[in-house]
Amino acid sequence: MKITKIHITLFCLSVLVLSSCNQKKEQKVEGTNTTVFQPETGIDLLDLQAKNKLGKDTIITIINDPVYHKTKKYQAVNALNVLKKEIDLSKIDIKNTKIVFECIDGYKPEMPLELFLNTKPFLAFKDIEAPKGSNWEKIIKDGNEMNADPFYLVYESVSEKDIRYKWPYNLIKIHLKPSNESTKELFPSDNKELEIGYNLFQKQCITCHSINGIGGTMGPELNYPKSITEYWIEKELVDYIVDPASFRNKVKMPTLGITKQQSQEIVDYLKYMSKKKIEVRK
Ligand code: HEC
Repeated sequence: MKITKIHITLFCLSVLVLSSCNQKKEQKVEGTNTTVFQPETGIDLLDLQAKNKLGKDTIITIINDPVYHKTKKYQAVNALNVLKKEIDLSKIDIKNTKIVFECIDGYKPEMPLELFLNTKPFLAFKDIEAPKGSNWEKIIKDGNEMNADPFYLVYESVSEKDIRYKWPYNLIKIHLKPSNESTKELFPSDNKELEIGYNLFQKQCITCHSINGIGGTMGPELNYPKSITEYWIEKELVDYIVDPASFRNKVKMPTLGITKQQSQEIVDYLKYMSKKKIEVRK
């Protein structure tokens, strides 16, 4: 998640492109100020910040922050207010919707919307204890120094041990999607034996990798146009997924702690999906 100059340039370009797309898609409901929710565009946090539309900020204290591993204080805005201002939740089937967080590097963690709405999430944009001249105390991850810009999602009343909650930093966008989006498109419905591999992929891989365009973009797409199983030797692929660092120096994919057997289940599922290519939507 190191941010290079290229990243920043690409990122600025995409912000320009995306915000101009958004403008075209925005429609006003007559007589009100509500913007009609366009699910495919999501909420562009930088765009809202630039337009001064994030609402009032406040100072919050997070006990046992899971990223910094200590108690921290941030300048932040209430994330529920931002969400409710941009999206009319009364028109959304909350129980069957998930919230997807999009980070600068394409990392896309998600959680049930209902869970998110039942807490007090905040979008932190400045670390009160940051050294002078910087917005954040440095985050050290895998020996790399990073900061949390532009937004870091935190919760006042959630235990850092509750893994159902996601705490993404470098957050740029929020999307709401049907909970079953990936089930519908990626579930091995005609081969139930592959369900284990499917479940492992959903749990361990989809935040960073997509299949047929569904999933994160931090790592490469694994199915389209060529499935990874069509150009890697199977045995090597299984070993790579268990321990990427034994293949590549300074590899960006983490070692996830999965066993060889689990890796084989995932590869079997990926082989099945190679017969189910769907042209990737743009
Ligand atoms: C935190 C993000 C992340 C997660 C989680 C993750 N990957 Fe990766 N993966 C990456 C990145 C980034 C790369 C590019 C690796 C590099 O060369 O630095 C990669 C590379 C790969 C490659 C090699 C692709 C190629 O040809 O270059 C495979 C195969 C792969 N991942 C499979 C998986 C599988 C299967 C899982 C789940 C068990 C998984 N990954 C989980 C980020 C991730």
